[in-house]
Amino acid sequence: MADTEELAKGYTFVNNTQYDAGLFLLQRLNLAPGSRVLDIGCGPGDLTAHIADVVGESGSVVGVDPSKERIALALERTRPNLSFYEGIAEDLSRFPSDNFDVVFVNSTLHWVQDQSMAMKEFGRVLKSGGRLGISGGSGDFVAAHEKIKADVLSRELYRIYPEESPPKFLKQHELESLLDHAGFSEREIVINNIVKSAKDADEMIDWLDTSSSGKTYGGIPLHLRPRARGEMKTEWDKITTDKGIRMEMELLVTLAVK
Ligand SMILES: C[S@@+](CC[C@H](N)C(=O)[O-])C[C@H]1O[C@@H](n2cnc3c(N)ncnc32)[C@H](O)[C@@H]1O
Repeated sequence: MADTEELAKGYTFVNNTQYDAGLFLLQRLNLAPGSRVLDIGCGPGDLTAHIADVVGESGSVVGVDPSKERIALALERTRPNLSFYEGIAEDLSRFPSDNFDVVFVNSTLHWVQDQSMAMKEFGRVLKSGGRLGISGGSGDFVAAHEKIKADVLSRELYRIYPEESPPKFLKQHELESLLDHAGFSEREIVINNIVKSAKDADEMIDWLDTSSSGKTYGGIPLHLRPRARGEMKTEWDKITTDKGIRMEMELLVTLAVK
């Protein structure tokens, strides 16, 4: 199922976990005023707009995202040094080579289908000495939301509808290999341990839906989704305490130099 306006708008209200992860990545990138930045998978542009403020009027930020609904929201943020385009990480041909000081990729790489191609594109559009910052879920750690999704989608009623383009969370050694192949030999990867909190199962599922553009349900057809949601809710309820849900997550945070 494609993204919807409702999911895109919903994400702007609940993306504080991704926003904080993005701030952690930005801290490591230590952006200088005047930098030219490309934000890959910018969504509705909350972090992109923040980066525009950090780099100031002498710098600029371009956000790219495949969701026309998210780009439409992003375009409502008008700043002279901020622009947005529909597009994918794997094809940045609208940009010349050696063009950006920084490529910023937050909470997005797992949705990119051809991660190897994308990594090569990041290398192409960066200036020599330019920096690549990536933060996203680690494939070395399976978070509760992945377990619950896999469990429910494997049930008899749903497993005949395989997910067409499932998320791919990279293990550190896979990430290292992609960076090697794209020529990023100078790099540092650290782990950012975070906790995603939600007051209850519905809040957690809404966060997953809006963050994944509806892909929480894999290939399950629309008419079965309310039932699948009910079954996921039952699983979340099992790990809900009187303080709500606390889900541990492990993010891999990469800083690489071209
Ligand atoms: C969880 S959101 C992250 C948005 C934003 N970076 C943030 O940190 O709030 C993931 C975004 O990746 C985008 N996305 C999915 N596939 C992509 C691709 N192939 N190339 C670039 N972005 C993609 C989605 O449309 C979505 O906006």
